[in-house]
Amino acid sequence: MCGIVGYIGTKKASPILINGLIRLEYRGYDSAGISTIEKDGLSMMKDKGRVKNLYQLEGMDNLNGTIGIAHTRWATHGKPSKENSHPHMDNSKTFSVVHNGIIENYNELKNFLADNGYTFYSQTDTEVIPNLVHYYYNKDEKNDSLKFLRAVKNACCDLKGSFAIEIICKDYPDHMIVTRKDSPLVIGKGEQENYISSDIPAILSFTRNFYLLNDYELAILSRDTIEFYDKHLTILKKEPKNIEWDATSAEKDGYEDFMLKEIYEQPTAIRETIGAKLNEATKCEFSELNFTKEYLSSLNNIYIVACGTAMHAGLAGKNVLEKLCKINTQVDVASEFRYRDPLVDEKTLCIFISQSGETADTIAALKLCKQKGAKTLALTNVIGSSITREADFSIYTHAGPEIAVASTKAYTSQVILITILAIYFAEILEIAHEQVDLLKRDILELPRKLEETLALSESIQSFSKKVYQEKDIFFLGRGIDETVAKEGSLKLKEISYIHSESYPAGELKHGPIALIENDITVVSIITDKNLVEKMVSNIQEVITRGAKTLVITNQDIDETMFDMTIKIPKTNSFISPILSIVPLQLFSYYISKGKGLDVDKPRNLAKSVTVE
Ligand code: AGP
Ligand code: GLU
Repeated sequence: MCGIVGYIGTKKASPILINGLIRLEYRGYDSAGISTIEKDGLSMMKDKGRVKNLYQLEGMDNLNGTIGIAHTRWATHGKPSKENSHPHMDNSKTFSVVHNGIIENYNELKNFLADNGYTFYSQTDTEVIPNLVHYYYNKDEKNDSLKFLRAVKNACCDLKGSFAIEIICKDYPDHMIVTRKDSPLVIGKGEQENYISSDIPAILSFTRNFYLLNDYELAILSRDTIEFYDKHLTILKKEPKNIEWDATSAEKDGYEDFMLKEIYEQPTAIRETIGAKLNEATKCEFSELNFTKEYLSSLNNIYIVACGTAMHAGLAGKNVLEKLCKINTQVDVASEFRYRDPLVDEKTLCIFISQSGETADTIAALKLCKQKGAKTLALTNVIGSSITREADFSIYTHAGPEIAVASTKAYTSQVILITILAIYFAEILEIAHEQVDLLKRDILELPRKLEETLALSESIQSFSKKVYQEKDIFFLGRGIDETVAKEGSLKLKEISYIHSESYPAGELKHGPIALIENDITVVSIITDKNLVEKMVSNIQEVITRGAKTLVITNQDIDETMFDMTIKIPKTNSFISPILSIVPLQLFSYYISKGKGLDVDKPRNLAKSVTVE
């Protein structure tokens, strides 16, 4: 969580830092702050609230420093307040630090530092960092050019947990140090200037050359140089990565919100995901993978591990991997998986789905699977993200940057990518030829059908207007549609703050139907022709108890009994979630707008959940 920005160059740093934070605000937005190196020492300006408030802080215009660090916070330790905002300084105001992550042993370190005369002014875990750096700095009797670096390195060796840190020191007015463990941080290289950010899009308009740090690596930056060190302070050689993303794709492009833009980008995103991997004439191609028939036949099972929306994409993956490839597949929530002693060994393939590639729970689960000897495959959207550096293999959705906290195009591109992966497996295993041919044809038609589905937006908007003030909304489905119900319900909760439940339609009568009362809204998805009758009976049960009903379907059913029916195009059942989720994304979006909420930055959430 949280956004970190840094600048070291020849221009005034403060506006660059604040603009960078605005682009990263989707990562955390309860407070913000910056620190620059001024002629008379370190400056620090911070406050509770949104990044734009920083412009109003008294004295902001007077900052002329050309080196600075900045932070937009997603609080983990200590409520959002001015004192708890970052940056944090040590007692002597020699160091200023911004931090993303959680220092798990902060209490222990705090006690140690307190015993050594340090005082704390915030409730954050972060405040131990500048003071610990100061502690080592003071103890170091050598006064050479590496003293600052040594102090940071020593302090970081004491930290347990996760961190991406930027630190400046008043005694080194031409330098900045950054380091990370399990939290994201990228370095952008410019001409006579260098940038730091939590993610690439925020600084893509300044540079396309990026350096990535592995866990515990440090970089010391000046205007013209970037030196890399490992945790023993051995110098490392690194090559920059050239990023081809278009900077404007991280802008709103005339849409009112990023979420709406990203919903409408789905046909393009899906085309990009399909890319050259799939066509009707030849076998599916994944240049990054080298699975053999022998390996795939030897597998006992596949685990798909992920969080939130990515986990819902995993449920669609299970459906296709089991039905098409006949490989037993389980889907787990990452934060549960690692604590349940999963039966993973070298006969297990573990797939990790993550848009950001930075989700702490998912990365921790991946590390566990590696230890247990399984092959690990990351399915992500962000090239060079932490997960790709841990996994044995990585495949990419290429959906472009997703900025809105509520995931939309990432979900649909994850579903398509895992489906293509399953086809690739089936082709290696030489099974299900006919099903594969049909599925390929249907996948290639999907972008056009997505466009048709998006054109239904007006009807969805009109239904949303009728329900946006409600307190509870239910989502029902069976089979693959139930996985979509889960995703629809999550979307609604995230951005409208309406309580919502998703249920397998047949399970309703075993308890939750007790909650159905007059005028409550029930949204149902029906795309499986074999389950139409059963679904209709379940909807009838809620209508009898007074529910208002919205039905998303591609089947020919009697619509007269429902309050509204949204008819989406027919497609292969393996990929039907890609079309049926679209009306539900729009439904949540319009409800959130109707309530006047901040669609892109819902309360309490952050785009990238880099704490466990
Ligand atoms: C999606 O709308 C959510 N904001 C959230 O559930 C998200 O999908 C989850 O945190 C996983 O993120 P990741 O894909 O970046 O790993
Ligand atoms: N744990 C730190 C805090 O609560 C950093 C949180 C963040 O990543 O924004 O201040």
